[in-house]
Amino acid sequence: MSNRTMKENFPIFSKNPNLRYFDSAATALKPQILIDVLSSFYAYENGPVHRAGYALANTASDLYENAREIIATYLGTQKDHIAFTSGATDGLNKLALYYRSKPIKGILTSEIEHHSNFLPWMALAQEKNIPLHIAPYHAKDFVDLDFVEEKLKSGTVSLIALSALSNVLGQKPDLKKLVALAHQYDAKIIFDGTQHICHNTDISLPDLDCDYYVFSGHKLYGPTGVGVLYIKDPANMISPFLGGGMISDVQTDSFTPEPFPQGWEAGTPVVAQAIGLAAVVKWLSDIDFSGILQAEEKLLTSLKTGLENQGGLILGSGNKSLLSCRFDGVSATDLASLLGMKDVCVRAGKHCAHPLHCSMNLSKPSLRFSLGMYNTKEDVDATLYETEKALGKLR
Ligand SMILES: Cc1ncc(COP(=O)(O)O)c(C=O)c1O
Repeated sequence: MSNRTMKENFPIFSKNPNLRYFDSAATALKPQILIDVLSSFYAYENGPVHRAGYALANTASDLYENAREIIATYLGTQKDHIAFTSGATDGLNKLALYYRSKPIKGILTSEIEHHSNFLPWMALAQEKNIPLHIAPYHAKDFVDLDFVEEKLKSGTVSLIALSALSNVLGQKPDLKKLVALAHQYDAKIIFDGTQHICHNTDISLPDLDCDYYVFSGHKLYGPTGVGVLYIKDPANMISPFLGGGMISDVQTDSFTPEPFPQGWEAGTPVVAQAIGLAAVVKWLSDIDFSGILQAEEKLLTSLKTGLENQGGLILGSGNKSLLSCRFDGVSATDLASLLGMKDVCVRAGKHCAHPLHCSMNLSKPSLRFSLGMYNTKEDVDATLYETEKALGKLR
């Protein structure tokens, strides 16, 4: 399926064929398949899961557990290794809260992180009064590996939390190298896979061997309000969040939690969202998603060349699926506004990555173009044309 015919799967383009959507890293557009599955679930199958024995409840429970199975298979793992969350932010906060009561010596993260993979660790380190090591950006390796190794060697890192693909630079580290390094020094490693999952098809979390991996469904063409938390070895891990649905017994002075994953899904789970995400993931597995991603890479290259020819200064190196840039003497916010008036959707801001902008001496917003499976050469050409015109007005 070409990217052009791919647009037919996304109903928004039938309403606005000239929409040039380059903000998929914020949230992806939704395919018809998702809308149909959600509509059908709410219309005919909605029921409580894991709580009642009548037919409708059983159907909802089966659909929900089937969704877990489909998504686990997509990640190359088993269903008892993934819990549904409300999104990546939720998954990362849950992990940080879990470690609140654990003896850890220190945490390592990086200055490249999205705030969702930075603030929970900063807060945890401050609360426990342990070191928070912030690895500097490295043009080739993503993070400075010498810094990472030095901190690991110092014996003050029990936990590493890093992005598997930056939402600002579109750059990724050598994940396997980082996992090997972490494990060599007995540290656990968490990958924020929120952007990574959207631009890779061959993910096998057990092969990758990371300890934790999180992502959000809505950036992977799924619904909002759902995410996944993968745990390699969930035995004996008790959720920091408590409530209905996650226990096998409660007394007035004690309780027995269900094992992971149900034990980490306190409250009414995100049923429709999980079923919707599974439908999308199955659809992605059935179409030539890897071919589409290759086409996406080519589009990114021509977009990058076009922007550079217009004087765009690209942040970072080795971009994959998205890029951020700036133009000397031009406000990114003004540029994004002018483009928005022409139905070109791009993002001006610091993209929830203030420390990264700070480390790159960027006090002002940058402009981000992030691609999705529906983007075409026409989108890129039209966007470069509109950018040229807008720059003419702003310079
Ligand atoms: C790399 C990365 N991590 C975490 C998040 C947070 O995702 P959410 O807001 O869906 O929880 C984002 C969102 O932009 C992201 O790009």
